[in-house]
Amino acid sequence: MNHGGGIFARPRRQATMVTLGATFTALVTGCAGSSLDQPSGGKDDKGPVKVGLLVPLSGVYSPLGKDMKNGFQLYLKEHDGKLGGRKAEVVEADEGEGPQTGVPAATKLVQQDKVAAVTGVVNSAVALGVRDTFDEAKVPLIVSNAGADGITGANASQFIWRTSFNNTGVNAAMGPTVAKGVAGKPVYLLAADYAAGKEMIAGFKKTFTEAGGKVAGEQYTPFGKTQDFQPYLTAAERSGAAAVYAFYAGTEAVGFVKQYGQFGLSKKMPLYGPGFLTEGGVLTAQGAAAVGIKTSLHYSNQLDTPENKKFVDAYKAAFEGALPTVYSVQSYDAAATLDKALQSAEGASGEAISKALGGVGDIASPRGTWRFAPNHDPEQKYYLREVQQKGDAVVNTVVGELGK
Ligand code: BEZ
Repeated sequence: MNHGGGIFARPRRQATMVTLGATFTALVTGCAGSSLDQPSGGKDDKGPVKVGLLVPLSGVYSPLGKDMKNGFQLYLKEHDGKLGGRKAEVVEADEGEGPQTGVPAATKLVQQDKVAAVTGVVNSAVALGVRDTFDEAKVPLIVSNAGADGITGANASQFIWRTSFNNTGVNAAMGPTVAKGVAGKPVYLLAADYAAGKEMIAGFKKTFTEAGGKVAGEQYTPFGKTQDFQPYLTAAERSGAAAVYAFYAGTEAVGFVKQYGQFGLSKKMPLYGPGFLTEGGVLTAQGAAAVGIKTSLHYSNQLDTPENKKFVDAYKAAFEGALPTVYSVQSYDAAATLDKALQSAEGASGEAISKALGGVGDIASPRGTWRFAPNHDPEQKYYLREVQQKGDAVVNTVVGELGK
């Protein structure tokens, strides 16, 4: 069973502190000066460690935030609620839909809650907006989704790491495959109008055109506000394109793919994109409208490996039969990297944790083993996935590999 469509309801904004792990005990907030202060001693100090989880608890990306919470929680559950041998105390904060909510939430985690490290961040614009907060405070941020190229590229920080992907990489992987698929005919490009949409399309366009592909046109739709995609789909059809390449995620991906099917475009113009277009609960909500869509991503819960099967079973058992998503895995792996780093770090200062993150080595993940590249992004392979009907469910079947 996959997530039900009900996860697309908007939850209330919240900021809570909870201890995740075996008991999930709720703790009281505002603990400066209490036993919840960061342990400042050396390697042998085994006091509690406070970690911030900054994910969307509201807005179009809240389903992704829920998957990320689940992934982090599952790791802690499997490790006695500990990271690096210390009891983990997790402070949640709502990223919301953009920097206007994400930046204050990050600032609160760093300045008020005084966490040792933060993980999460779905939206590229938020990642770019919080970059200086972490760099200046010397608090490590392990980004477990947002793909903004700059935060591990031109705007890199020694305190920022990423367990997910970068926007260029996940899309560049798909360019030659689409160019081959359309055999010289043009492709129309569509994406949500914000940092990630622009970078994703640019990443795809570069390798697609280098492989001989032609672009029929491109448009960016207002992020978080577009419910009627008809004008954009009409423009795509009229352009004479043989296929469409699109980036949408969360509730926007549901509306887009359903309307694509309703307007009868699936048969005329095959749909391609990065895997967020058909990932997790959005795929359940899209249903049969998604069948045939081809995407690139570094994970599918259909991966036929012992490591992934074990993870899928554990996830289903922990979350009432829900299937894990790429968001759950990226967050599970963020907990794993933090666990390994805290095991070897000389204390829990930002400098010590960041230095230790550089030495964590191979991460045995449900996606396949990966490690941090020198720029702090994962070195990983991308899979070619196709949405297929499997019994009553629609799934992202892995049909090939796209390389690193
Ligand atoms: C981003 O903003 O980087 C992003 C959001 C949702 C899915 C993938 C990337």
